[in-house]
Order: sequence, then structure tokens, then C-alpha cells
Amino acid sequence: MAQQKTIMRALAGETLDTPPIWMMRQAGRYLPEYKATRAEAGDFLSLCYNPELATEVTLQPIRRYGFDAAILFADILLLPQALGADLWFVTGEGPRLSTVTGAGDFAKLKGASDVHEHLAPIYQTVRNLAGALPKDTTLIGFAGAPWTVATYMIAGQGTPDQAPAHKLRVEDPATFDALIDLITASTIEYLSAQIEAGAEVVKLFDSWAGSLKGDAFQKYSLEPAQKIITALKARHPNTPIIAFPREAGDNYIGFAKATGADCVALDNSVSADWAAEHVQVDGCVQGNLASRHMVTGGQDLVDETRAIVKAFSKGPHIFNLGHGITPDANPDNVQLMIDTVRETTA
Ligand code: CP3
Repeated sequence: MAQQKTIMRALAGETLDTPPIWMMRQAGRYLPEYKATRAEAGDFLSLCYNPELATEVTLQPIRRYGFDAAILFADILLLPQALGADLWFVTGEGPRLSTVTGAGDFAKLKGASDVHEHLAPIYQTVRNLAGALPKDTTLIGFAGAPWTVATYMIAGQGTPDQAPAHKLRVEDPATFDALIDLITASTIEYLSAQIEAGAEVVKLFDSWAGSLKGDAFQKYSLEPAQKIITALKARHPNTPIIAFPREAGDNYIGFAKATGADCVALDNSVSADWAAEHVQVDGCVQGNLASRHMVTGGQDLVDETRAIVKAFSKGPHIFNLGHGITPDANPDNVQLMIDTVRETTA
């Protein structure tokens, strides 16, 4: 049998001498070649919906650094757009959407199985990538988790504390629950189609999971993840799934077991030693170098990278940042991180 790709081996639970490595937002504004292609596309959304250029930017960090995985270039907010929300990006500020503040707005959204026509260019990008990637590189598809996507759909933009979504959750639970269920069902559709187009792994981004506590975390982060993973495993039993309940803290414990995820991605608010003891016991973990090291570099980057590799060396681990790389990062620091990971374990 041919040697499996390193990411697939780690996701299957194997402890490797050198952890495979990729980086959230690895195709992004810190790279001059990304900025050039984005300028050619016009704006960010035009880039997402242009299969040829989206393929090109996905491949750029693979060519430059030889990462072990490529992540589809798209955005978690394309799904709400496919459900009928208006979506645009304000330069320097971020996304804006038409809002869902009650039953009337919710009733205007489309059904879960209606999303495919709008998302067809994304599936084309996945097909292009499946044919274009080096043979050792794993292709990762993704979607936002229902709670995180709902926070943007309800507020119409990013919010520091997700207050508008919490308000709807408490004051109009029927509409809120219906919205979560619709996003859950459409995410199953969206990720299934990405897998059918050639994604080998999928990742669920719950970027705002940290603002859900107690029962609310169970009901709106854990249970939707469990439903999505259960449905995907029924349709595509051999496709590993990475879950990222960012800033979940103690709720990281047992999350993989409860949801059926093959790997839990860790943000950098938890220490690698703590996570090795409490989270890696259940299987593969991904993470968790603070993104700021890609800006600050130097010995601090080297020391912290080595500490993370060592902390996770007794179990399956995929090296990554704790969140996306930022536009002010220095591309040389990315190379230093990769060299350090590979030298620490050589
Ligand atoms: O990781 C990757 O490189 C894959 C592509 C990807 C993007 N966004 C491209 C992008 C992925 C996986 C995402 C996920 C995403 N998008 C999340 C979840 C992960 C996280 O970061 O917490 C969220 C919350 C979004 C929504 C979103 N998209 C915001 C809030 C913004 C604006 C903030 C910013 O960084 O500018 C975006 C824009 C965005 N998505 C960019 C990229 C490369 C920058 C757009 C540009 O080129 O101007």
C-alpha cells in the first residue's frame, strides 16, 4: 500500500516523529503573491467565486513553503450568502450582511438543499485543487460552525462579544433554534459536496465558541458539531473531520469523543502541556502557536515552537497556529517556524 499522507496518518491517530504542518489563513495578505492575485480578481468575494484564481491563491503557500496541507480558499460567510443573505466586505473593517433579527427575516432564507447552485464555483475550486496539488499534500475543505455563522447573520457583522446573537438566543429562542438548525442542515450539504468534489479532510470553524458557557455551549456548539459530524460520517465514513471550538477552555475536554471529531484544533489560550494531558488523550490535536510570533519572530518564536512540538510529541499532532496568520506577519518568520518544527524532531 502506498505510504499515506502525513496529515492523514496523524488524523488516523498515529504519533509521527515530525508533526505535519499547515497554517490557518496560509493564503493571505501577508504574502505579496496573494495581494497581486487579489488585485487581479478585484475584491475578496470575486476572488472566492473565481475557481481559477482561488485555486492559484490556495497553491501559493504550498509552492513557497511546502506545507503538508492546503486549505480551500473561500470564506465561512459564503454559506449565508447561498441561503439568501446579502454579503459584502468593507475594506479595512470586515464583512457586512443583511441581518436576521426575527421570524420575518428567517422566513426569507432559502432551504438547506438550495445552496448548491450558488456554491458551484467553490466546488469547482475543490475539483481544480484535487487535480493540481503535489501528491503528498492533503486538501482540506471547511465551513463555519452554526453558532459562529449565526453570530454574523444575526448582527450583520463581526461583534466583539456576540451580544446580538446572545440576545436573539435568549429573547426569541424559536427563531434562534430554527436558524441554528438551518445552518446545521446546510453545512452538512455544503461539506458533503466539498468531499464529493475532492476534499480529503474537512474542518469546522467555531471561532466564537468561547462566548458560549455551560448548557449553551452544549446546545449550540457541541450538539450542532455532533449532528454535522454524525451526518458526514454516515455519508463519507473515511473523511476525517477537524473541529475548532475556539477558546472553549475546559470545554475542549471530551469534545472529540462527544462529537466524533477525529481531531480538535486548539487556540493559544490553552497551554500545550495542559492540552496534551487533557485533550490529546482522546486523539489527534492541532495547534497552537500564537499568531503574533509570525510578526515578532526571533528566539521567542523558536523557543515557543519547540515547546509546543515537545509537549505534543507523545501523541498524534498537527502543528498549526492558534488562529489565522495576520496581514502584518513577516513571511520569513513562517519559514523559521517550519524549519524549527522539522529540526526539533529531526
Ligand atoms: O485559512 C485559509 O486560508 C482558508 C480561507 C479562509 C478565509 N476565511 C479567507 C479569508 C478561511 C478558513 C476563513 C474562515 C473565516 N472567515 C472565519 C473562521 C476562522 C477565523 O478566522 O476565526 C471567519 C470568522 C471568517 C469571516 C471573515 N472573513 C472575517 C471576519 C473577515 C475579515 C477579517 C480579515 O481578516 O480581513 C474575512 C475576510 C477573509 N477571509 C480574508 C481571507 C484571506 C481577508 C480578505 C482580504 O483579502 O481582504
